[in-house]
Amino acid sequence: MYDLLLRQCRLLQTDRTIVEADIAVEKGVVAAIAPNIQASAKITLDIQRQLVSPPFVESHIHLDSALTVGQPRWNQSGTLFEGIEIWRERKQNLSLEDVKLRAIETLKLQATQGVLFVRSHADVSETSLTALQALLEVREAVKHWITLQVVAFPQDGIYGNPINEILMEKALDMGADVVGGIPHYELTREDGVKSVHRIFELAQKYDRLIDIHCDEIDDEQSRFLEVVAACAIRSDMGAKVTASHTTAFGSYNNAYAFKLLGFLQRTAVNFIANPLINITLQGRTDTYPKRRGVTRVKELWQQGMNVSFGHDCIQDPWYSLGTGNMLDVASMGLHVCQMTGTAEIDACYDMVTWNGAKTLHLADDQYGVEIGKPANFMVLDAIDRYDAIRRRATVRYVISRGKLLARTESPQTNWYDPT
Ligand code: FE2
Repeated sequence: MYDLLLRQCRLLQTDRTIVEADIAVEKGVVAAIAPNIQASAKITLDIQRQLVSPPFVESHIHLDSALTVGQPRWNQSGTLFEGIEIWRERKQNLSLEDVKLRAIETLKLQATQGVLFVRSHADVSETSLTALQALLEVREAVKHWITLQVVAFPQDGIYGNPINEILMEKALDMGADVVGGIPHYELTREDGVKSVHRIFELAQKYDRLIDIHCDEIDDEQSRFLEVVAACAIRSDMGAKVTASHTTAFGSYNNAYAFKLLGFLQRTAVNFIANPLINITLQGRTDTYPKRRGVTRVKELWQQGMNVSFGHDCIQDPWYSLGTGNMLDVASMGLHVCQMTGTAEIDACYDMVTWNGAKTLHLADDQYGVEIGKPANFMVLDAIDRYDAIRRRATVRYVISRGKLLARTESPQTNWYDPT
């Protein structure tokens, strides 16, 4: 007898084809995938030919600031920099309990909508390292139902304050999974370049991944991505490196951008765009035409680079909205990046699933619905990837570690014919 049996699934497979089959789960792993499995199970779900997909991956979120919107005040200008100022005030009042409660509430919000892998940044610019400690405790507390990676993120720059470099290293000693950075917010261009080199040194010393907030500004002269590319080429660490945001890439002239694309192709650097946030944060100093403020997602994808989409923020000083729904993120990315071709729409779905898993550097045997792999997947009220994004399909069931974690009913509409 299986633990769980899902009847009549439309399974989105790793090669992106769809097969109709039953899926059996036992002891936390996918035990069988076949039509009409002749066995019983402790729990049987009739999936009625809905889509079964690997779970969503939230590759970029700030859980330490999530759900703080309006505290102590609203971001009236809507700019990145007013957001940083508000967060500087709010983080004076952080406590372990405060961060943990909000982080777990946000993770539950996402998990009920199919997110089972998350990379969160933790601000390590304040001396108590409360945000980091809290998220490390959350990582442990939730590991039975969601996988959390924590980035040591120096919000105020590694060299913005003499103690920040020490705090970065302390954060890695405490167990942060990923080395973060923010070179465009260092005091000088030289400090920014130095910070990227330091990030790579720390990652090699502690054997950690890298995820840098890189060039999140409309300034076409913000060119730290080339420094990241150079360090990735020289260190051969590309697959472990992520460049987040890179919004300035959208403002570079084509001559420079095409040269840079060539350098990037010599690396396996991952990119994360956060379309919900950057379509609202960027372009604020423009009159018209106003820039979209999102990196060159389509071109990076066309060149074979790994690109994923993240939320970045849910109800915090930088973004007052957000529901935790990755299909909102994919839909916004699709629109802003003008990825409306059929292959492009499917690619946007991949950017919140498989591509995110690659960015998080998950082992091959950890992601995807295949026999022998951990049973982490979701059932969407949709027939395929396009349908899922177009209708922001309800995630009907979430299966985590082989157990039913969440169930949501699809909305039902009754039509009362006026004639
Ligand atoms: Fe961010």
